[in-house]
Amino acid sequence: RCSMSQNKIKRIGVFTSGGDAPGMNAAIRAVVRTASYYQKEVFGIMRGYEGMIEGDIVKLGARSVGNIIQRGGTILKTARCQEFRTPEGRKKAFENLQREGIDALVGIGGDGSFTGLHYLTKEFNIPGVCIPGTIDNDLAGTDYTIGYDTATNTAVEAIDRIRDTALSHNRLFFIEVMGRNSGYIAINSGIAGGAAAIIIPEENMTFEELMNHLTEGEGTSKKSNLVVVAEGSKIGDANELARRVAERSSYFDIKVTILGHLQRGGAPSYFDRVLASKMGVAAVEGLLAGQTDVMVGIRNNKMVFNSFETIINHIHEIDNESLRIAKILSI
Ligand code: F6P
Repeated sequence: RCSMSQNKIKRIGVFTSGGDAPGMNAAIRAVVRTASYYQKEVFGIMRGYEGMIEGDIVKLGARSVGNIIQRGGTILKTARCQEFRTPEGRKKAFENLQREGIDALVGIGGDGSFTGLHYLTKEFNIPGVCIPGTIDNDLAGTDYTIGYDTATNTAVEAIDRIRDTALSHNRLFFIEVMGRNSGYIAINSGIAGGAAAIIIPEENMTFEELMNHLTEGEGTSKKSNLVVVAEGSKIGDANELARRVAERSSYFDIKVTILGHLQRGGAPSYFDRVLASKMGVAAVEGLLAGQTDVMVGIRNNKMVFNSFETIINHIHEIDNESLRIAKILSI
């Protein structure tokens, strides 16, 4: 069908690893179908690197990924695997791949998954491409990671619901969102949810500044307030901030909601399905064209490949414009 099918790769292994993210199934589907399109065989490696070490590998085909594009989670399951961090663990994993005749890999996950794939490609000379799948949007080299849009929509929906009850009782809510060390989910769910303040690790807002901002509204008609706190906040998590504000002012009736893992589940948004589909196609076509040790990304609406060195240990920065508008709109 295409000159790429002449490539020497015969069998592609696909796996998901690290925290699951909505849209991972759409990415698996795209990888499997693209491989089939180019007449390559595809095997699913269960539970990420854990299943690779244990040899838990299943044959997949275009039909085995039907009816999954709309489903959250990952049909291949996932894990955070310590043993893969050791050369012995990786050797076991590679031997299993060899036994199955797998001669190329597509890994779907975050920075830990890409790091694992990097070592595997370097140590055993097996080509591998990573697809960024994490709700955190914390990977440099791509404007968006798969799952981030859905998770942020979920957070916004939750914030809207909390707003109803906050307003009814004149309460101040601290809402903690996920994101690990990144403030992406927080800044954008905060802007979309109309938060009075957004606390993210990337910005150096002090507790005093937060306190001043909240008490500016004291005695005015602005009584209900929502503060969105990224879990990676450097000035304390939602519980801690709530406790400190309560210590300083009896004006507020304060509640805390930690959104937690509900942000990880659910049907992927249209955006994440399309992103995952594009990335899955790009990953397989990249592999067949000779790409290795790279991550697929989307930059300014174009698919790109970036090397391990340019991604890992680089911060996916939040643009100043988002920070600026969040401030203007929270007066
Ligand atoms: O990386 C995704 C993520 O959901 C982070 O936002 C969060 O810090 C972490 O995973 C939670 O990990 P676990 O599911 O292992 O508790």
